[in-house]
Amino acid sequence: MLSVAHQVQLSQQHVTAQLAARPAAKAARKAWKAFASRLDAHFPTLLQELAPLYGARPDFLDFLVELLAVGFDAWLERPADLQALDLQREKNPRWFQSQKMLGGVCYVDLYAGNLKGLLKQIPYFKELGLTYLHLMPLFKCPDGNSDGGYAVSSYREVNPALGTMADLQTLAAALRAEGISLVLDFIFNHTSDEHDWARACVAGDPQYADFYYLFPDRTLPDAYDQTVREIFPDQHPGAFSQLADGRWVWTTFNSFQWDLNYSNPAVFTAMAGEMLAIANLGTEILRMDAVAFVWKRLGTVCENLPEAHTVIRAFSALVRIAAPSMLFKSEAIVHPDDVVKYISPQECQLSYNPLQMALLWNSLATREVNLLQQALEQRHNLDPDTSWVNYVRSHDDIGWTFADEDAIQLGIHGFPHRQFLNRFYVNRFEGSFARGVPFQDNPATGDCRISGTCASLTGIEQGDPLAPARILLLHSVALSTGGMPLIYLGDEVGTPNDHSYLDDPAKASDSRWVHRPARSASLYSQRNKKSSVPGQIYQGLRRMVEVRSSLEVFAGGQLTGFRAGNPSVLGYMRGKGGAHVLVLANFSEQPQHCPALVFSAQPKTAVDLLSGTVRSLREGLALAPYEVLWLDCRISA
Ligand code: GLC
Ligand code: GLC
Repeated sequence: MLSVAHQVQLSQQHVTAQLAARPAAKAARKAWKAFASRLDAHFPTLLQELAPLYGARPDFLDFLVELLAVGFDAWLERPADLQALDLQREKNPRWFQSQKMLGGVCYVDLYAGNLKGLLKQIPYFKELGLTYLHLMPLFKCPDGNSDGGYAVSSYREVNPALGTMADLQTLAAALRAEGISLVLDFIFNHTSDEHDWARACVAGDPQYADFYYLFPDRTLPDAYDQTVREIFPDQHPGAFSQLADGRWVWTTFNSFQWDLNYSNPAVFTAMAGEMLAIANLGTEILRMDAVAFVWKRLGTVCENLPEAHTVIRAFSALVRIAAPSMLFKSEAIVHPDDVVKYISPQECQLSYNPLQMALLWNSLATREVNLLQQALEQRHNLDPDTSWVNYVRSHDDIGWTFADEDAIQLGIHGFPHRQFLNRFYVNRFEGSFARGVPFQDNPATGDCRISGTCASLTGIEQGDPLAPARILLLHSVALSTGGMPLIYLGDEVGTPNDHSYLDDPAKASDSRWVHRPARSASLYSQRNKKSSVPGQIYQGLRRMVEVRSSLEVFAGGQLTGFRAGNPSVLGYMRGKGGAHVLVLANFSEQPQHCPALVFSAQPKTAVDLLSGTVRSLREGLALAPYEVLWLDCRISA
């Protein structure tokens, strides 16, 4: 019996020799040498991830050779400036932990018409302080409903309505020159039904026969449906859709989004090629879409299976070889215990923080910070080589993904509490300031999620004078808890819901479009008028961004909880050893008082960095409605 280490060595030698013998390697000796040394360093990790998935197959070594040939070809095509960036980032692997990092997200068409239009927005992005820009899906997709581009028909062609591949590369380079990292999606759980692979699969091409989960009848779909969750029940019950010829195909989301079959190594190799091509466009961070769903096993929920992690870590190991500066951001909108499992230096270095997002809205509705305080104290701090992406809302619905186990410790029962939150945010609760819309209301399970822009969920539509303060409060937490803040562009000027999606048959059935409004030139034009609502929001946000980026205590992701002695006031400290900033945030529309006792270990007075005023802490502290304080406790007074 060979030892494992010896087996790894033999496979490595075999694969390397096969690759070196290919004409591509012979024709480009220098590139091959560089690639071979990267391969040397990372092959064992790659093998360790791929072996449990495909190692039992007799053709495993051939698969490895083929996969790494795809990797080498991508390396050959990797532009010199990206290879330079690779080296730079390897020397500074924590670059994304800087307090200067600030993210924005937008749809290309809705924000700027097309890619060329977006180029013209770069000066504004700089003004706002962005260093990270996530462009919503922009590759070729079906006409009509494409789930906002989340059904990809080709990863090598830009949606012609938005521009060309050349436009995208120009934009990526222009952004990078201005210090803004381009973020694109890797929609790898599924393709559209119009993708060449899907067409070949239905047509019976043996090469693509196992690319998707196709079934002749309902036997297996019925068996799987016993245990899987319905994600878009309005679109189809269960997880499967029927084809015109009577067969069934796995479609976790919409009927035109066909789940790929990762138990087939050819799917892994094919998607690896698409991933590296996206990297070579100048993508610095890849948003790993719908990570929870990529592996299925009968009798399970088919979400968050261990193999889903293995698939992602294998992609990550390949990236370390062929596009090393690119990072992964996980999109797992699941139970918080499962969310963190995707986050590690070897898997996804970044992750959305859906718990913080949902609990911000929870606290705003209940005027109590209990759940959020608990989450910050127990679930916030991560491995220092990884980071949260903290956000107030995204292009998706808001789902109440807190842990029932956490809630019950505070006497909160998950199910009825979620029902309350849904009523509160969709305007079925008297006195609510929110004007949201239900999403995937599922009477069978009582599940429902909500849609709405930040402005509409905080009271802008009714002209509530407190709405701007609510918007700033939510963003202040995303900006100061640690991790990278991400702004949904338009929220910084208070853009309200847009109901025009109801007139578009391709969008009408999906209420998430209500919170994807087009860029409003008139709102943006008021951003520097302090007296206007957009101006109040924008100026307040800019102030926070400036303060944050100027202070190193805001770098990295670690925080320490601070109990403010008032159920409506959230508290935490950034920085250590007496050199910290104390953040306090009042989640109620009433003034709140924090007792002197809680400040006994703090300096007598502290400057609020946001307003510049000195606050005395000896007699306790009064906070105005929705007031946020960033108290500078670095110099003891
Ligand atoms: C992700 C996207 C969402 C999309 C789904 C299917 O969750 O954020 O918008 O519907 O994946 O691709
Ligand atoms: C579900 C999925 C998530 C997706 C969302 C879209 O919550 O878990 O991945 O973004 O649906 O609405």
